[in-house]
Amino acid sequence: MTRFILNDELVETNLPKGMVLADFIRYKQSLTGTKLGCREGDCGACTILVGSLDDNGLNYESVTSCLMPLGNAKDKHIVSVEGLNIKGLNVPQKAITDHGGTQCGFCTPGFVVSLCGFALSDKAKNQEQGTLSIAGNICRCTGYKSIERAIGTIVDSLVDKDDVRPIEWLVSKKFLPDYFNTIKERLDEFKNESQKTNILNTESVFVGGGTDLYVQRPEEMFDKQIIHTLHHSDLKGIWKDKGRCHIGASVTTEELKQSTVIKELCPQTDQFFNLISSLQIRNMATIAGNLVNASPIGDLAIFFLALNSNIVLNDNGALREIPLNQFFQGYKTLDKKENEFVQEINYLLPTSSYLFNFEKVSKRTYLDIASVNSAICLHFDEQCKISMAHISAGGLAPVPKYLLETSKFLIGKLPNKSILDKSIEIAQSEVAPIGDVRGSVRYKRLLFRQLLTAHYMKFFPELYNC
Ligand SMILES: Cc1cc2nc3c(=O)[nH]c(=O)nc-3n(C[C@H](O)[C@H](O)[C@H](O)COP(=O)(O)OP(=O)(O)OC[C@H]3O[C@@H](n4cnc5c(N)ncnc54)[C@H](O)[C@@H]3O)c2cc1C
Ligand code: FES
Ligand code: FES
Repeated sequence: MTRFILNDELVETNLPKGMVLADFIRYKQSLTGTKLGCREGDCGACTILVGSLDDNGLNYESVTSCLMPLGNAKDKHIVSVEGLNIKGLNVPQKAITDHGGTQCGFCTPGFVVSLCGFALSDKAKNQEQGTLSIAGNICRCTGYKSIERAIGTIVDSLVDKDDVRPIEWLVSKKFLPDYFNTIKERLDEFKNESQKTNILNTESVFVGGGTDLYVQRPEEMFDKQIIHTLHHSDLKGIWKDKGRCHIGASVTTEELKQSTVIKELCPQTDQFFNLISSLQIRNMATIAGNLVNASPIGDLAIFFLALNSNIVLNDNGALREIPLNQFFQGYKTLDKKENEFVQEINYLLPTSSYLFNFEKVSKRTYLDIASVNSAICLHFDEQCKISMAHISAGGLAPVPKYLLETSKFLIGKLPNKSILDKSIEIAQSEVAPIGDVRGSVRYKRLLFRQLLTAHYMKFFPELYNC
């Protein structure tokens, strides 16, 4: 049975845990404000909010319900657009109406939900963050300017937001209906009753956020026996131990983006990760899903290859740790037994000075997968020579590629223009792109050269006269 709160109602259902939540909401609960456009996580028309209890209290995240398995709603507060209605219009609804931010109206519920999610979040209340919160919502009619003006009004209304009692404040200011004030207590009751289950390896399929599986094989997933890993407490958390950073397999891309531990290593993570999918997808997309999906352009795979990470696999309690660069063996072929699941990844925290960078080029800046992506981490000794180098690149081989020869070449070198140029030559010899919808072989090689140059220009601007 799956039990959760849908808007203000308790739901207990024995429907298959693999069906998508959008279908449950629309066709079993007749809440048709949640629209279905693409069913692939691209348009945001099906956006809902998921409220969960964590150490900081009650938190809400926007997600695309067309890719969310019903089983992942267990013990959560699920909010469709109907669950945001108050008497009259709530603040985001009124701002959108006042600024002419809706025409045919198909996309509008998704925008309203995302903007209520923005109001609930602890993100800075400014135009930029408001706009980023709707990066996963597409509108075919308005041209977005009117929606951006609506965001301006919403931001102004949030200036005095009470961060200590945010929900009470948002209810009092007509962002949310009254019943939101009762949710924490109601979810607490679930928490007290819930029993922790072990992850057992059976004939079932592991599902993290479902953002790959439900795009690749949605029909198949309906009746599958599923092991829901997204909210499993054994697979969550980012922590430091004995000089290494450990990241649970079910940590989401947005949790990585917000993590202070990751930001310590790489303060620009926040900007880098804005280029990965959209907020709604990042809120579900797990690191394990990105690695096991084994896409040659997986952004997290590329990011963590350059940190020389290890991956830890669990087979009924027996743990096996291998370098991530050995995990990817061929196109969608992994060093992983069928019943092994990913427990965590980890990497050595730098002890000397180092530089890290990530670059991604795609056809569209936001909400698009990479044509080519690349990450690099260089460590330096006291003489400023490179003491360790790790470079990765995607879209140039059947696997997310670790550039072993280029990395080896750089070790022991004092960076100068000719060394860096030589490393780009070696890197080109290590990759073998194929032409596809994202570009020809020539284009991808050119992009790759430019991305490596972009890394070096950021690290050594003086060598490039910038
Ligand atoms: C609209 C959209 C945009 C996207 N944009 C990007 C992008 O910009 N960059 C990018 O890299 N990706 C992107 N993706 C792909 C996807 O979001 C990521 O690959 C994501 O990290 C997958 O994680 P998940 O938890 O949703 O995977 P799932 O779909 O849950 O699972 C994917 C695979 O991993 C397996 N799996 C999951 N957890 C475990 C575990 N613990 N142990 C063993 N196996 C496991 C599943 O069985 C499945 O085979 C996008 C997807 C969508 C829908
Ligand atoms: S229907 Fe388009 S994102 Fe869900
Ligand atoms: S108002 Fe028509 S799609 Fe946005």
